[in-house]
Amino acid sequence: MKSLKLAWAINALLLAAVITMAYMFIIQGSVEKSDDGRTAILLSAGERDFVLTEMRGFLETVQSINQALGNDDLKTVIEEATKSGKASLGGVPAPLMAKLPLEFKQLGIDTHTEFDKLADLAKTAKSSKQVTARLGQLLLNCTGCHASYKLKIEGGADK
Ligand code: HEC
Repeated sequence: MKSLKLAWAINALLLAAVITMAYMFIIQGSVEKSDDGRTAILLSAGERDFVLTEMRGFLETVQSINQALGNDDLKTVIEEATKSGKASLGGVPAPLMAKLPLEFKQLGIDTHTEFDKLADLAKTAKSSKQVTARLGQLLLNCTGCHASYKLKIEGGADK
C-alpha cells in the first residue's frame, strides 16, 4: 500500500516536471525581463543574426511594396508580398524555435500570413489606396512585436 502511494507521488512529480518543461519550451521560451519593460529573448549570437536577417528581409519587402504602391504597380506588390508570405516560412532551426515564446512565434507566423493576404488583396483591389490601408494594418504586427520583445545574447550584454 505504502509503495503504491509512493509510486503515485513519483508519478505526480514526474507529471509536474513534464508540464513545467513543456511550459518552458513551448510557451515561455528562453526569456527574461528587460530594463526597458520589454521581454528579452536570450539567443546565441548566430541565432540573433538569423532573426535579424529575417527582419531586414521584412523591411526590404515593405520598402518594395510601398514603392510599387506609389507607382500603382499592383503586379509588383503581389510578387513582393508573396516573397514574405508563408512560403518563406521554415528553415528556422529547432533549437532557436524552442527559445522563442509561443506568442512571438504566433505573431511571426501571422505576419507571413498577412503578406499572403496582402498579395491576394492586390490581385482583386480596385485601387492602390485599398492595399496601402491593408499594409498599414499589417505594420501593426511589426510595431506591436517590437514594443514587446527584444533580443539579447545569452550570458552577454544587452546588444
Ligand atoms: C514576432 C515579433 C516580430 C515581428 C512580427 C516583427 N519583428 Fe522586427 N524585430 C523583432 C525583434 C525582437 C527585433 C530586435 C529588436 C531589439 O533587439 O531591440 C526586431 C528587429 C527588426 C529590425 C532591425 C534589424 C537589424 O538588423 O537590427 C528590423 C528592420 C525589423 N525588425 C523590421 C520588421 C518589420 C518591417 C516587420 C513587419 C513586417 C517586423 N520587423 C516584424 C521582432 C519582430
